[in-house]
Amino acid sequence: MSEPAAVLAGLGAHVPPRTVTNEELSRRMDTSDAWIVQRTGIRQRHWADPGVATSDLAVEAGHRALKSAGTAGPDDIGMVIVATATPDTQCPATAPDVAARLGLGTIAALDVSAGCSGFVYALATASAALVAGYAERVLVIGAETFRPFLDPADRSTAVIFGDGAGAVVLRRGTADEPGAIVSVDLGADGTLKELVGIPGNGSRHRSTDRPPDPADQYLFMHGKEVFVHAVRRMAQSSSAVLAQAGWSVGQVDHVVGHQANLRILHALAKQLGVDGERLVRHLDQVGNTSAASIPLALADAAAQGRFQAGDRLLLTAFGAGLTWGSVALTWPGIALA
Ligand code: COA
Repeated sequence: MSEPAAVLAGLGAHVPPRTVTNEELSRRMDTSDAWIVQRTGIRQRHWADPGVATSDLAVEAGHRALKSAGTAGPDDIGMVIVATATPDTQCPATAPDVAARLGLGTIAALDVSAGCSGFVYALATASAALVAGYAERVLVIGAETFRPFLDPADRSTAVIFGDGAGAVVLRRGTADEPGAIVSVDLGADGTLKELVGIPGNGSRHRSTDRPPDPADQYLFMHGKEVFVHAVRRMAQSSSAVLAQAGWSVGQVDHVVGHQANLRILHALAKQLGVDGERLVRHLDQVGNTSAASIPLALADAAAQGRFQAGDRLLLTAFGAGLTWGSVALTWPGIALA
């Protein structure tokens, strides 16, 4: 009898309808389509309209993932995890509201805050909960609304981030089934917390007498330094998760890296010795959607028919914290809603 494991059972995605092209941004700030494409690979992103919050996107994606999983009813899901760096409110968490609006009753619901690594961290949390028997099925959603946190005067962040949500249903199964999470690797280095973040609203800021500064509500990022750590940590974590899975790099069919920057993905592929064909690329369409980036990329590639049942996938991400993490799983051959 194979070991118990979390198995991918459903997948859904949602991006807000408004598309913002590089061209549109170049009319608003000192940038250009050529700079953005060359330095990042991003061609457009989606931004939520005023009044739309992270839970609104999460509910849409969650609904689609539940449909894709063919869940019989609300009783099927035992836990909801929302990975986000842009929760609706500082307190309470966003997940209980999402669970309620999806009609899932009074089940366990929590947020995971690990920046752009949030979805991988949430998969690991869900996987552990399933294997421990706390739930039979868990809905995991990565969702972000970054637009309100982007300083319109900061061209180095405003062109990068986009809004959206992606979700999966994981069920309790066994490690030999297609769709099983085979191994997980997570890490963090808090000494690098000053490289990227949104300082406002936390107790550190509130604990001082300093009057609120609007700049503290915006995302800051030291892009060059983040770039270097991102490549190094994703490469190390990928190697660790593959070693744990007992897979060689050559056996991996698809690498789904955090969609932050095409140059980062190419550098990662080079370090791992993976050819570009096996890299899943979605950031040209949506930009960096942080915790939503990996499930959105999965949904896009699945919709294009890139994955076959039994394919071996490597998911790897890095983000604010700094945090990083990787998951090795096989593809289940699920229907998209
Ligand atoms: N349009 C035009 N020029 C821009 C620009 C923009 N949108 N943003 C920055 N520049 C300019 C800079 O001002 C700088 O000009 P200078 O040389 O006159 O000072 C020049 O371009 C180079 O800036 P730099 O920051 O060194 O560029 P870069 O090649 O490092 O690319 C990022 C910047 C942000 C695209 C890149 O560092 C990156 O992707 N980093 C990782 C960030 C990330 O993944 N974050 C995820 C969240 S954890």
